[in-house]
Amino acid sequence: MKKIRVGIIGTGGISHCHMSGYKQLEAEGRAEIVACCDIDGAKLNAYCDKYGVAKRYTDCREMMKNEQLDCVSVCTWNSAHKDCTIAALEGGANVICEKPMAMNAKEAEEMLAAAKKAGKLLQVGFVRRFGEDADMVKKLVDDGVFGDIYYAKATYLRQNGCPGGWFGDRAFSGGGPLIDLGVHVIDLTRYLAGSPKPVSAYGVTYDNLGPDRANSGKKAWDIEVKPGEHPYNVEDICVAMVRFDNGFTLSVEASFNLNIKGDIGDVQLFGTKAGTSMNDMNVLTTKDGKFITFTPEGEHSFRFGPAFVEEIKGFVDASEGLVPCKAPAEDGVWLMKIIDAIYESAKTGKSVEIK
Ligand SMILES: NC(=O)c1ccc[n+]([C@@H]2O[C@H](COP(=O)([O-])OP(=O)(O)OC[C@H]3O[C@@H](n4cnc5c(N)ncnc54)[C@H](O)[C@@H]3O)[C@@H](O)[C@H]2O)c1
Repeated sequence: MKKIRVGIIGTGGISHCHMSGYKQLEAEGRAEIVACCDIDGAKLNAYCDKYGVAKRYTDCREMMKNEQLDCVSVCTWNSAHKDCTIAALEGGANVICEKPMAMNAKEAEEMLAAAKKAGKLLQVGFVRRFGEDADMVKKLVDDGVFGDIYYAKATYLRQNGCPGGWFGDRAFSGGGPLIDLGVHVIDLTRYLAGSPKPVSAYGVTYDNLGPDRANSGKKAWDIEVKPGEHPYNVEDICVAMVRFDNGFTLSVEASFNLNIKGDIGDVQLFGTKAGTSMNDMNVLTTKDGKFITFTPEGEHSFRFGPAFVEEIKGFVDASEGLVPCKAPAEDGVWLMKIIDAIYESAKTGKSVEIK
């Protein structure tokens, strides 16, 4: 079997998780990690030394011209997703681009158009779709356990959790916790609810707590933060309501900074027959006119490392036509439309239509 030739663009924090997926495929004889690219040459060299990658580039177009890559991961900051993804697609590769797909829906649509024109796969890094917890709930949904799901809550609240650096700089990130954290749980909820079409959104953002807390020196993430390099100009918290064409309503809350006791990440689904919270995976339903709860057998938690390995395997399998793509670019575009509408609504104070 021909080994797929892999490239990685952006060799920061999350690229290590992509690498662990490709390393597994390399060990199985399915892939060869040929080249990596980062605009920061020192970072690139350290990364390539660590993983034994010989070909190193600081310009992704040059990498694509020279290396005949089959599969490329785009792991740059958000403002570079569009250009790097289009360069990789035009250079003949299938691409997985980290979340959020882009800075806004317009960019995401350009990326989707480039994938169609090149006849290549474009997957979005919605890693939460690849968790064992998501598989468990999806099966319950598909088995009809919940009946019709008409309401859900997507929550990702951090007490003091801006990763710092470019994540707080709108020009690089496109926004704050909504586009960074909210995107994960909004996508997961919509996916579990059967991917209905969004029709409108109403949102509010606050920035009351701001840069002091964001720059309080907490370092929980593996990104480089150089003092003074980036302003902090994104929201602290966003709350929103999104309506869908089948009557389904989603309530969203996502924060970097909030006076809350601890961090909370959860997806709650409420249907005509049952409801659940993915935090404890306890399903509440009724039997013989009485409320009962049960917890399905199996792994209930979201395990970060294994989910990335599954995601990369799913991407390569889909690139080779072995399985359907589980996180297609079309869903990335819908997510960007939802995020654009929420930010627009927060500015205008009015509900915004999504088309
Ligand atoms: N799926 C997840 O759970 C998850 C978690 C963390 C981050 N992310 C996403 O991954 C992406 C990267 O985040 P990170 O934490 O790794 O950031 P990071 O800052 O650690 O790494 C980003 C890297 O991209 C490089 N870069 C920027 N522009 C480039 C370009 N044009 N060409 C080549 N390299 C370029 C930077 O030099 C930097 O090394 C973001 O989109 C982020 O939202 C996803």
